[in-house]
Amino acid sequence: MARPKIALIGAGQIGGTLAHLAAMKELGDVVLFDIAEGTPEGKALDIAESGPSEGFDARLKGTQDYADIAGADVCIVTAGVPRKPGMSRDDLLGINLKVMKSVGEGIAANAPDAFVICITNPLDAMVWALREFSGLPHEKVCGMAGVLDSARFRHFLSVEFDVSMKDVTAFVLGGHGDTMVPLTRYSTVGGIPLPDLVDMGWTTQDKLDAIVQRTRDGGAEIVGLLKTGSAFYAPATSAIEMAEAYLKDQKRLLPCAAYVDGALGLKGMYVGVPTIIGAGGIERVVDIKLNKDEQAMFDKSVEAVNGLVAACKGIDSSLA
Ligand code: APR
Repeated sequence: MARPKIALIGAGQIGGTLAHLAAMKELGDVVLFDIAEGTPEGKALDIAESGPSEGFDARLKGTQDYADIAGADVCIVTAGVPRKPGMSRDDLLGINLKVMKSVGEGIAANAPDAFVICITNPLDAMVWALREFSGLPHEKVCGMAGVLDSARFRHFLSVEFDVSMKDVTAFVLGGHGDTMVPLTRYSTVGGIPLPDLVDMGWTTQDKLDAIVQRTRDGGAEIVGLLKTGSAFYAPATSAIEMAEAYLKDQKRLLPCAAYVDGALGLKGMYVGVPTIIGAGGIERVVDIKLNKDEQAMFDKSVEAVNGLVAACKGIDSSLA
């Protein structure tokens, strides 16, 4: 059986890391597409030349031609511009919306059967726009945010509790922005929910609140340190986890920006929710119950995402 084909649209910091991870994990052959001439070709060759030492079998190719992504099984989209210090994800909207139009058309024409994972920010609005521009089925187009936000939350919790991060599960829902909703009640260490761990004296409510806030600000913390761009190792790893769930039909329960129509009281929009990812793409949106406070936070986040979608419609009338 031929290897799966993974197309990476955008060969910048995240795109290059995605290519490296996909090759090392032997998820398939990789095509790196970018408008910047030489960048995808150089990264593809450099990573391919690491193959003999690493011992992976994967072919890598860099290109400026959408025809080269033909028949891709997975497309991961990072094309666009990242944040600089002082910018919010939302500041990227106008520029990246135009990029989503060309990417959506390129995927629709060349890889209409692919599972598409969008990473470009502002995430929830961009994945919505990418779906609209591409016309692909909703269950085959999703956005990577929840896995990353949850991973940041899990990392901070594992340090606070001094336990393996393998035993920390955490859930972050809502839009990928300041209004994201880290759900402490559904986050656990070895199955013990965080509120119980506060009662058991493992941490204090104040410390937990600070970790929740640090999670919300996780992307900005990295932007502030790097100064010239935004995070790329953890975002790439998170998207690869989702791609692997699809390619291997793992039926993983992962939070991601998915199209929700009915669950959680939502009518036809993209936002971060728990999903099952398998060979069918987003096979199910998990309709979890939120308490009053969680619902209020989630509603605020949904409102923020709707505001960005409305702004997209204002910029590009074909979306209205
Ligand atoms: N088509 C294809 N590639 C494009 C296009 C386009 N229309 N426009 C820009 N690009 C390419 C750039 O040439 C660049 O190589 O997208 C790449 C983006 O890479 P970086 O600038 O290194 O950004 P990165 O850190 O990878 O982040 C990409 O993901 O997390 C989000 O906020 C982040 O929106 C940003 C995206």
